[in-house]
Amino acid sequence: MSDLDSLKNRALDQLGACSDESTLRAWNSHFFGKNGEMLAALKKVSELPPESRKEYGQQANIVKEQLSASYETALKNCLEQAMLKSLETEKLDISLPGMIPAAGKLHLATQTLRDIQATFAEMGFQVFRSREIEEDEFNFGLLNMPPHHPARDMWDTFHTTDPGLILRTHTSPGQIHVMRKFHPAPIRVILPGMCYRYEAITTRSEIMFHQVEGLVVGTNVSMTDLIGTITAFTRKMFGDSRQVRIRSSYFPFTEPSIEVDMDCIVCGGKGCPLCKKTGWLEIMGAGMVHPEVMKNGGYDPSKYSGFAFGMGPERIAMLRHAIEDIREFWGNDMRFLSQF
Ligand code: FA5
Repeated sequence: MSDLDSLKNRALDQLGACSDESTLRAWNSHFFGKNGEMLAALKKVSELPPESRKEYGQQANIVKEQLSASYETALKNCLEQAMLKSLETEKLDISLPGMIPAAGKLHLATQTLRDIQATFAEMGFQVFRSREIEEDEFNFGLLNMPPHHPARDMWDTFHTTDPGLILRTHTSPGQIHVMRKFHPAPIRVILPGMCYRYEAITTRSEIMFHQVEGLVVGTNVSMTDLIGTITAFTRKMFGDSRQVRIRSSYFPFTEPSIEVDMDCIVCGGKGCPLCKKTGWLEIMGAGMVHPEVMKNGGYDPSKYSGFAFGMGPERIAMLRHAIEDIREFWGNDMRFLSQF
């Protein structure tokens, strides 16, 4: 009997010293677990002389009930305390305005690409996708720039470890893919995609940027059609009030060649670092498809003619939203990107 008393006192002392749920549960398994002290005390009944068994058994059950009740009470109090504590720290003010969940949105470059695509779709252009890792032959050779042609220097190139495979420097190689795939004319496509150039990064030039190529092939396609298409496009994208300048230029794959500039939105034409103090920002190169390129695409230049253009959507977005630095596009600064 005295063993039972000392077990009870010891157990209650230890229970009083438990400070949290985990020590309480450890106490419970120590006394009431499979090999716990309480079970051992109950089992002792069988070792006692028969005349003492009844009294011992009754007393042991009383101790068991008392300890078990004390444990339940201690655990309940402990859990209640923990709950109150967490309610205090996790106070909820239901009168506060709700938080608007952050919703994803399209990148400004993608938005601009889609606007460009929609504008050309209205004019009956289809979208064709061409590869970004391109053969040197398509990026240069078939565009009238055989090896060692000086015009190759116009595009500083990223080479791959595979000889003859490069990251395309412009979307123009897509012209050859389209002409070879679609026979006979008419062809009226745009080719959007990423281009890569190994050149200095500045406020207006990135090493990776989008281009949207355009290609029209048919009979009697003329320079007037090209200028009409470009004018319709710029009016739709920028409105009637913006100034467009077309000047003659040189590309090995078009003859004649032109470049299209817009008045600089940042300085209003006065001259700033973005427009290199010229008041104009170049948005595209264009021209009539060179007879050699036509032939390389599988079309007879004596029967067919065509025009092509290649524009920079990031430059177009800069002009539409007065963005002063092209590096913002791929800088991943959410404060910039979330504005659009
Ligand atoms: C070309 O890439 C020619 N393939 C365009 C062309 C197509 C001409 C078809 C004739 C016929 P250019 O290098 O000028 O040309 O680039 C065309 C446009 O891409 C530029 O007007 C500009 O808007 C954009 N662009 C060029 N380089 C960069 C760059 N580093 N960063 C951002 N945009 C660029």
